[in-house]
Amino acid sequence: MQQRMLPKHIAIIMDGNGRWAKKRLQPRSFGHKKGVKNIFTICKYAFNLGIEAVTLYALSCENFSRPKEELDGLFDLFRQYFGKDKDKFLEMQVKIQFLGERDILPEDIRKCLTELEHLTAAYTCGILSICINYGAKQELIRAVNIAVERRERQTLQSFHNLLYTKNLPELDFVIRTGGDMRLSNFLLYQLAYAELYFTKKLWPDFSPKELDKALEDFIKRERRFGKTE
Ligand code: IPE
Ligand code: IPE
Ligand code: MG
Repeated sequence: MQQRMLPKHIAIIMDGNGRWAKKRLQPRSFGHKKGVKNIFTICKYAFNLGIEAVTLYALSCENFSRPKEELDGLFDLFRQYFGKDKDKFLEMQVKIQFLGERDILPEDIRKCLTELEHLTAAYTCGILSICINYGAKQELIRAVNIAVERRERQTLQSFHNLLYTKNLPELDFVIRTGGDMRLSNFLLYQLAYAELYFTKKLWPDFSPKELDKALEDFIKRERRFGKTE
């Protein structure tokens, strides 16, 4: 695959962990564990290909309405991979940032997130953004409120700078695993001209081979951005 044709910035809606576990008669938490492991496989592969930015939907604002037991299990996974076992992230040598409203998270987890951001701030092999308690509508309202507080009229450029994604290249490609064809409040502004790809593969089964398939599809598409050719 030719690097110049690859998307610079891909985003993934990592859906299907629960169903993956159910198929195996296991609790949903089993699927989430397998899902986290797959983050490393896919991110390493994507950054090695030369993709500059990967943005992952890990937990939506709406996911906070799930049962406490499931959320506690997810928080424990955050504690493990963003804290104790953070070397797995550090190994990738990419800058890591968390997008979303983190006030809702337990304080020890917020500390892990901030520390991981600091530790990786100078890494240059790519940017990995992980969306936690993220919602696109919430992101837009937040941006509008900042603008109102500053009493600033917005331009496309200045509004871009009010978004969580301000330091990222234009979003080129959004992949959703799990078979549903919807966006579930993910990056609704940023995907104005992104290409969309939906696969039935559940996230824990989404392998580098599946990513290759998606990228081959992306490369074939003609992106016109409103022009004629
Ligand atoms: C996506 O998998 C991960 C999170 C939202 C945390 P799901 O947990 O939504 O899995 P399904 O869609 O129920 O299979
Ligand atoms: C989208 O998956 C959110 C994440 C993958 C983090 P959901 O499972 O929450 O989406 P819906 O409820 O099917 O739209
Ligand atoms: Mg789901």
